[in-house]
Amino acid sequence: MPSLTSLLAVGSLALQTALCLPGLNTFPDHNVKILKRSVDTFVATESPIALNHILCNIGASGACVPGAGSGFVIAGPGQDNPNYFYTWTRDAALVFKCLVDTFIDQYSSSLQILIENYITAQARLQTVQNPSGGLSSGGLGEPKFNADGSAFTGSWGRPQRDGPALRATALITYAKWLVSNGYSSTAKSLVWPVIQNDLSYVSQYWNNTGFDLWEEVSGSSFFTIAAQHRALVEGSALAGQLGTSCTHCDSQAPQALCFLQRFWTSKGYILANINANDGRTAKDANTLLASIHGFDPSIGCDAATFQPCSDRALANHKVVSDSFRSVYSINSGIPGGQAVSVGRYPEDVYYGGNPWYLCSLAAAEQLFDALYTWNKQGFMTITAVSLPFFRDFSASVAIGTFASSSNTYIGLFNAIQTYADGYLVVIENYAQANGSLSEQFSKYDGHPLSAYDLTWSYAAFLTAAARRSGKIPSSWIGPSDSVVPSTCSASSANGPYSVAPTSTFPAGQTPITGTSTATASPTSPPCTIAENVTVTFNEIVTTQFGQTIKIVGDAANMGAWDPTKAVALSASQYTNSNPVWFGTVELGSGILVEYKYINVASDGTVTWEGGSNRVYTPPVGCASTAVVNDVWR
Ligand SMILES: *[C@@H]1O[C@H](CO)[C@@H](O)[C@H](O)[C@H]1NC(C)=O
Ligand SMILES: *[C@@H]1O[C@H](CO)[C@@H](O)[C@H](O)[C@H]1NC(C)=O
Ligand SMILES: *[C@@H]1O[C@H](CO)[C@@H](O)[C@H](O)[C@H]1NC(C)=O
Repeated sequence: MPSLTSLLAVGSLALQTALCLPGLNTFPDHNVKILKRSVDTFVATESPIALNHILCNIGASGACVPGAGSGFVIAGPGQDNPNYFYTWTRDAALVFKCLVDTFIDQYSSSLQILIENYITAQARLQTVQNPSGGLSSGGLGEPKFNADGSAFTGSWGRPQRDGPALRATALITYAKWLVSNGYSSTAKSLVWPVIQNDLSYVSQYWNNTGFDLWEEVSGSSFFTIAAQHRALVEGSALAGQLGTSCTHCDSQAPQALCFLQRFWTSKGYILANINANDGRTAKDANTLLASIHGFDPSIGCDAATFQPCSDRALANHKVVSDSFRSVYSINSGIPGGQAVSVGRYPEDVYYGGNPWYLCSLAAAEQLFDALYTWNKQGFMTITAVSLPFFRDFSASVAIGTFASSSNTYIGLFNAIQTYADGYLVVIENYAQANGSLSEQFSKYDGHPLSAYDLTWSYAAFLTAAARRSGKIPSSWIGPSDSVVPSTCSASSANGPYSVAPTSTFPAGQTPITGTSTATASPTSPPCTIAENVTVTFNEIVTTQFGQTIKIVGDAANMGAWDPTKAVALSASQYTNSNPVWFGTVELGSGILVEYKYINVASDGTVTWEGGSNRVYTPPVGCASTAVVNDVWR
């Protein structure tokens, strides 16, 4: 991959002499353009790679995770050093939130099947008795399950209370799409029951301690409370749309928001964890991830919900990113206001304590969110709280509100855009040459570390890239949802739990308005996900002259089990040393087929191969071809 490190070095040396605006610490204009073009190229190249890797890590069609159950997102395909071959409720929900937003942006029947499989899998998972409990006794807080959906019974940091909230948000986003396209009854009968269980869990337990998203600290985590607040707010709104209600959401949402304020400190940053005695500074990318998860430009730069452009979230962005400048050698000498590699928290020792792709991407995404909102509202406000953040870009800037026509706004906007793109340059520099993203990269030399092909890393890339191109998720905060009660109180409310149905989703729920139901700018999606896959079947089988090998199965294109409609394979590449018969069949991606090979003699006699039916699920992804290699049995 082209390295921009040298370009950036030139840019920073040159800026003393070639400022485009007085007092603004930014790059000379032509270098900014080169940087932007280069990041454009990287984003265009990496986006389809990232989407394909995500799909490859989802069962049962994902080729990277054989053995994973239908609808389960596997955290990473690696099974040792470390073993990430599990499905985490948190990771899966964040990944599917990204996929649902991708789906809403551009309809894809294959993606819709995956989303439906995810929902059905979650309905099942909710009922699995596990070390945290059962459906109505705390079991929804179990952090991870085996790849086939059975309980993981080893010791672990449990419960983790963000999972149900994040899953509710992913499902609510899809349910809202169903409602707005005229499929309210599907939303109500098949999606809402799963959401309702999660909302009952959140309203009951939000005011209890649990393990944080890094699975280390037992206490109250900012990320968790923010995710819970969001789920309660939008869960209640969805209930209303479906003609029901969530009174336990309504009573708890304001209290969760009230508690959220406690994480802000007069030291000028957000505490990642409280009610915990972990001896850390509590500076943590947890808070960046919380801010981007709650992004809603309809509420502007609201500080109560820690919007990405709020003064609190910007001040915090500086404190958190600065906390990594001195602890990683690869960040050495990079001044404030220029992108660095960002990890989980400065005291981290896991794998030696290194930067993470998803944390560096969250730092980028928060800035892209802020830029979007400033652009939308047409002004930028600097307060005493956010002044240190802005001073990194202009040493002389002062408190005030600056219209988009002002030189101050223009200079800051351009400098922050360049700063945000710098975080993508970090990713470009430290990704594998083929675009693969692991969990971490070395603080010494940037080489990939820990789990390879981490699904969340790819989702973090896609959401950052989407925000950069102006693709914005749907709004979730209503007018009164950001009003903080004057007094906070400890509380909890019980809601119903019941086993959600796992029946098949109705077919043909296509968008009413044509292809696109959402947003935004005329940028292309990461790739067009293939609806059908042309699958080449290679069958190794020794035959006599006059015999023909055919494939027959339950799919219409495989003859629907009728041997007279079976697909004849070709022997044109058959040799004695490689007796292969091959042929292609077009199959729906993500749709499981059962099939067998038959040997048809010249007189029409059919001999079926032995054993049980073969099963195959064509992959969901950018590619529209796949290959299956079989041997006659
Ligand atoms: C419960 O909420 C109260 C009021 O906001 C807060 O003081 C307390 O720390 C919370 N406890 C937990 C464990 O969330
Ligand atoms: C990408 O490159 C890495 C490092 O060479 C390699 O381990 C990995 O298998 C490659 N991935 C793919 C999908 O080619
Ligand atoms: C996919 O296959 C189905 C069934 O054969 C067909 O109706 C549909 O048009 C195909 N879609 C594309 C995009 O070729």
